[in-house]
Amino acid sequence: MSKQEELYKKYIRPSLVQARDRKNPITYEEFHISAEDKLLGVNKTYFIYTFGCQGNVADSEIFEGILNAASFTLSNDPSLADIIILNTCAIRESAEDRVWGELGRLKKYKLSNPNLLLVLAGCMSQEEATITKVLKTYPHVDIILGTHNINKILDYIKNAYFNKERVVEVFSSSNSVISSLPKTRPSSFKAYINIMYGCDEFCTYCIVPYTRGKERSLLKESILEEINALIKQGCLEIVLLGQNVNAYGKDCYSNYSFGNLLEDIALTNIPRIRFTTSHPHDLDLLTIQIMSKYPNIMPHFHLPVQSGSSNILLKMNRHYTKEDYISKVKLLKQYIPTISITTDIIVGFSYETESDFEDTLSLVKEVEFEGAYTFMYSKREGTPAARFDNQVDASVSKERLLRLNELTNELTLKANKKYDGKIVEVLVEGKASKGNNILYGYSKNYKLVNFEGDESLIGKLVNVKINKIRTWFLLGELSNG
Ligand code: SAH
Ligand code: SF4
Ligand code: F3S
Repeated sequence: MSKQEELYKKYIRPSLVQARDRKNPITYEEFHISAEDKLLGVNKTYFIYTFGCQGNVADSEIFEGILNAASFTLSNDPSLADIIILNTCAIRESAEDRVWGELGRLKKYKLSNPNLLLVLAGCMSQEEATITKVLKTYPHVDIILGTHNINKILDYIKNAYFNKERVVEVFSSSNSVISSLPKTRPSSFKAYINIMYGCDEFCTYCIVPYTRGKERSLLKESILEEINALIKQGCLEIVLLGQNVNAYGKDCYSNYSFGNLLEDIALTNIPRIRFTTSHPHDLDLLTIQIMSKYPNIMPHFHLPVQSGSSNILLKMNRHYTKEDYISKVKLLKQYIPTISITTDIIVGFSYETESDFEDTLSLVKEVEFEGAYTFMYSKREGTPAARFDNQVDASVSKERLLRLNELTNELTLKANKKYDGKIVEVLVEGKASKGNNILYGYSKNYKLVNFEGDESLIGKLVNVKINKIRTWFLLGELSNG
């Protein structure tokens, strides 16, 4: 057997078919780092490229946490780093293309620094096709790991350093929840908190249930412990993360759900609580009632609808109709009159006719979304929809996307006009650009606000009087009122 064949046998590769598995019971583990590993990275630096959703942002914070715990230092220049991690996203072809482009560009660093370790991580690593392509055409990738084993990054770095060979270990699925993972957060006042991993919804177009595995909730005690520690450090805003937060607890509690968790978190008195993402099918009345009861749960709800046609929703396996969605929105608006509702919409999904698309436009008009992320359907190999026959022509999808964007932008501007002359509370996140003193932050309703102010306000809650309205942001001035 050649050296290459031997290596191929050692590689642990994922299978999208096995990734459907939901059978094994969930186990809970703790992360530990050995005394020896704590010194692994002395005098070595790393750089992380993060693509994709907040789930990946949170995972990159764990990569940073683990590497910092092992004495590696974060570099702000990839050309000087000893390790470069690409934390990738597989949600659409365009997201993958960005990663392939970056991988190509990184080749030059490998030439100038042969000791550089290049690591491919994240959702793309979970796809067989990615692994095959990297093994064939990207010899400069040294380590491939998936979303289920970021806790093992130090072992892989050691293997690659000491054995001088490529390491490929990607598990198709996982049934474990690992707690006490170290995290390095960039902000002291705003934090992402994972409350669950994975997704069991299996929307027919979506790769996430395969790349992120089975739905697994973190235990409420460990979530509350993390939040209480953050409060002690002065954190003002937390964002609870999960692909379907409304399914929180279903895997581990018989009568403790997302609404109960929200209430327990609200009672910690942290000033601002947000969460993402919600699934309309699982959103329940308790969650809405708890939101209306506690002013520290922010009046913003991101509720992806995907389509306004009940036919298409059925083909997407979304488990609700246009009417079900509209009645959930009515409940939200009834209980929380100040709420801003935003959404995600896919156009050009297989079988979508002009009349289905018009149903989407009419739903958008009826709900009056304050913001919408709109996407052209992108076929994902391994998902059920990849085998649907009636694919919509790209030119038709493009034209629908333009029409939809025109409408959603109009509604966003209309919603923003409500704030003209009003005073809003803003958590100041940073400077809008270098060289001037314009700051930015978000209002309770998750409106981006720009205003003039001193850098010392970063990390503080301030009042801003809005005096100019744009589609993508609001402009205002500091107010004492
Ligand atoms: N769990 C979240 C987020 C999923 S990914 C949710 O259910 O809302 C974010 C968005 O990407 C989705 O809401 C959907 O609108 C879009 N998306 C997912 N798969 C897609 C695909 N194959 N093509 C185009 N858009 C897709
Ligand atoms: Fe994908 Fe649907 Fe799960 Fe969201 S709920 S991650 S769209 S399968
Ligand atoms: Fe992308 Fe994976 Fe998030 S596919 S959107 S990084 S869960």
